[in-house]
Amino acid sequence: MSSIAQSIFTMPALPEVGHNDFERAARILRARAGIVLGGHKQEMAERTLAMRAKSLGMANVKEYLDHLELNSQSPQWEAFINAFTINHTAFFREQHHFAILAKFAKTRKKPFSLWCCASSTGEEPYSIAMTLRESCPAPDSGVSILATDIDTHAVQKAQEGVYTMERASPIPEDYLRKYFQRGTGRRTGMVRVKPVLRDMIDFDTLNLLSPNWPITQKLDVIFCRNTMIYFDKATQTRILERFAAILKPGGLLFAGHSENFTYLTKSFRLQGQTVYVTT
Ligand SMILES: C[S@@+](CC[C@H](N)C(=O)[O-])C[C@H]1O[C@@H](n2cnc3c(N)ncnc32)[C@H](O)[C@@H]1O
Repeated sequence: MSSIAQSIFTMPALPEVGHNDFERAARILRARAGIVLGGHKQEMAERTLAMRAKSLGMANVKEYLDHLELNSQSPQWEAFINAFTINHTAFFREQHHFAILAKFAKTRKKPFSLWCCASSTGEEPYSIAMTLRESCPAPDSGVSILATDIDTHAVQKAQEGVYTMERASPIPEDYLRKYFQRGTGRRTGMVRVKPVLRDMIDFDTLNLLSPNWPITQKLDVIFCRNTMIYFDKATQTRILERFAAILKPGGLLFAGHSENFTYLTKSFRLQGQTVYVTT
């Protein structure tokens, strides 16, 4: 027998997946993180669950899900949630928002506070920071940016601020020169955010479903783009009301291109191009 054939025959099987494990995992994920897992993700999800169970030496996925449900403080929750988040993002995604933000920031009294509440791997908060550095006369004093995400790996990557040149390609050339360092040697083809930009942002892990948000002062702007689409309407409405309560009068909420909150709340009205203002 060839060595490849041998390794196939000796490969340990993945832990068993029961017929209702997917529905159970989807229910657990929705309750904990708000994320709705569609039926079309079943195959991928079952494989992910089996891999998680295997990495913990468990015989089947049921044992893994039992562990999560019986241990609400288990460190395994982190990897479970990280496995099901979708981190798709880009620098200056939905570019028109940044022109609106620049104009708006100029009209506001300092201190100016912004929360980017699903900041993924950092491209969005760094785009915000560049925009505010360029549009506010003294960005080092009086501008604060909080960037949070439920996904601990994404937050870690955001804090590192290292990207491939390809990912950095939407950044205007003059911003790239000003705010990024080009890698050399092993880091050729990569860029790293300079401290002047990095230090404008406080990064943290935060679940939007958590009853306690670490917001101590009222905000001028919330960026919550391309995240509510993963939540059901009731969760979206609850979060929108909480957003409205922590925004200053006239504060803005930036939503994703396919998100429409007009029918969910009277606390915001659409100002244009998926930007909402408090009523
Ligand atoms: C598709 S990305 C969007 C990133 C960025 N806002 C953008 O528009 O480019 C969605 C992000 O929402 C985060 N997320 C999902 N559920 C969350 C929750 N309950 N609390 C906080 N962040 C969450 C995911 O980890 C992911 O990074």
